[in-house]
Amino acid sequence: MTYISPSLLAADYAHLAEEIKKVEDAGANYLHLDIMDGAFVPNISFGPELVASIRKHTKLIFDVHLMINDPIRYVDRFVKAGADMITFHIESTDDPEAVIRTIASHEMRVGIAISPKTPVETVFPYLSQISQVTIMTVEPGFGGQSFMMPMLDKVRVLRRYAIAQGLKLDIEVDGGINPDNVGYCTGAGANVIVAGSAIFKSKKPRSVIFGMKDAAKLNPFVG
Ligand code: DX5
Ligand code: ZN
Repeated sequence: MTYISPSLLAADYAHLAEEIKKVEDAGANYLHLDIMDGAFVPNISFGPELVASIRKHTKLIFDVHLMINDPIRYVDRFVKAGADMITFHIESTDDPEAVIRTIASHEMRVGIAISPKTPVETVFPYLSQISQVTIMTVEPGFGGQSFMMPMLDKVRVLRRYAIAQGLKLDIEVDGGINPDNVGYCTGAGANVIVAGSAIFKSKKPRSVIFGMKDAAKLNPFVG
């Protein structure tokens, strides 16, 4: 099964509750929450207070993507705000094991994200301790950028490695994804799809989400 995780970064912030209801009604599985600190990435988004406010308005699984330096400092705050899974960037910490332990101590799903320049093998030592890897298919920091096709090689290498090791792993792809290119992602082995602009900027989010799910079914991982 392919899970669709609309990124709230592309929503109309003046009408967040309606925007979230719109994608929930349209068949989304998760809600992707991009947290940016203006230091790890050159943009600032929102913090735990906003996450806590929207928590009351939806049952969607909160897929929190931390793009912040030294993420261990904020894990507790996002747990309290209502996160269901927390993903941090391997490039943002000197001690990934400590961040994993802290997130996992809250009985929460743990994810590691890697930016485009980071080799996929960097995450191999941690795979038995986490449930998801996010392969960035744009440079982190902004929505609405173009999909980087070469990143699919990393998805394929990771899916093959996880299968060879007998590991159950979700592979999320994030950035520039739409119904036209999602099939390449699932074909390479991704099973969680983040899409911001393609879903929130559309007048027909339901068609986009189901278009993505159909494309995923037509393009399964084939090894
Ligand atoms: C980029 C974020 C993405 C972004 C995706 O740093 O991590 O989640 O919001 O947005 P689109 O789908 O518009 O590229
Ligand atoms: Zn993201």
